[in-house]
Amino acid sequence: MSSSFLSECKQKVLNRIESLLVNKDQITSSMRYSALADSKCIRAGLVFASGKLEGQLDEVGLTDIATSIELMHSYSLIHDDLPAMDDDGMRRGQPSNHVKFNEATAILAGDALQALAFETIASSKGITDAHKVEAVRMLAVACGHQGMVLGQQYDLDAEKNESLDIELIHSLKTAKLIEVALTMPYLGNEMHKKTQVLLNNLGEKIGLAFQIMDDVLEVSSDSVTLGKSNLSDITNKKMTYVSVYGVEESIQKAEALSNFCIEQIQENFEIDKARELIELTHLMVSRSN
Ligand code: IPE
Ligand code: IPE
Ligand code: MG
Ligand code: MG
Repeated sequence: MSSSFLSECKQKVLNRIESLLVNKDQITSSMRYSALADSKCIRAGLVFASGKLEGQLDEVGLTDIATSIELMHSYSLIHDDLPAMDDDGMRRGQPSNHVKFNEATAILAGDALQALAFETIASSKGITDAHKVEAVRMLAVACGHQGMVLGQQYDLDAEKNESLDIELIHSLKTAKLIEVALTMPYLGNEMHKKTQVLLNNLGEKIGLAFQIMDDVLEVSSDSVTLGKSNLSDITNKKMTYVSVYGVEESIQKAEALSNFCIEQIQENFEIDKARELIELTHLMVSRSN
């Protein structure tokens, strides 16, 4: 698969974002700048790969869900880079949103991308109303004050407070969105309850593995390959998996999580339908950027 599967997923999402962001004004330009920039779209890949497992949704529904997740992710990155947060000047191989535009516009672009993420699900022609309500609710729970944003707050707090738990921070700031990327194709349908629980558990582990590798890559790669700073965590005195456990142990932990998840996927789903999810689970920890 993965390169062609993932690039197809990416293309579908980019086309959808193009169709959503058509105005020529400053705020739309700023949203387009970040949301259409070169990225891996790995969360979109997870949505499509999850959707294949039990095939409940058609292409339209899956594309809207994947787009919504990627819009939410782009918002989080714009805000994450702001001077008051990680203060990073480079993202996705180009100047960060606040550097290209200005801080106020970057804040607003993040706000508007988040709103658009919810709108994209609520307006979808490929999802039932019951599914939409549950998808919007779960996305809000995953990304709000009990999820990603709480994780971002702990991430900032941990710059000064060493007693915070790195696994908790990563599970909140990164894994929550990945959990919902995996479960969202099956929400609002009692028939898929068991699948939802299983995918949620897998998402927690895959998401943790993904953020551990992000921490590892920051110290083992370079900023051109990453498309972002490779000095940010050090400069900001961040608590990362690497700062707590070192590079070797971090890699071992990420690989163990990925392998465990692959075994679980193999045990619980038909192999023909799970191939893409297995390969993406492997890619989460074998990637170079
Ligand atoms: C970066 O995410 C932020 C983290 C949660 C580690 P990605 O590595 O998926 O970034 P893009 O979307 O490809 O730019
Ligand atoms: C960011 O984590 C996670 C979110 C944006 C929610 P990081 O701060 O480690 O991500 P990068 O390294 O800036 O991409
Ligand atoms: Mg950051
Ligand atoms: Mg990082």
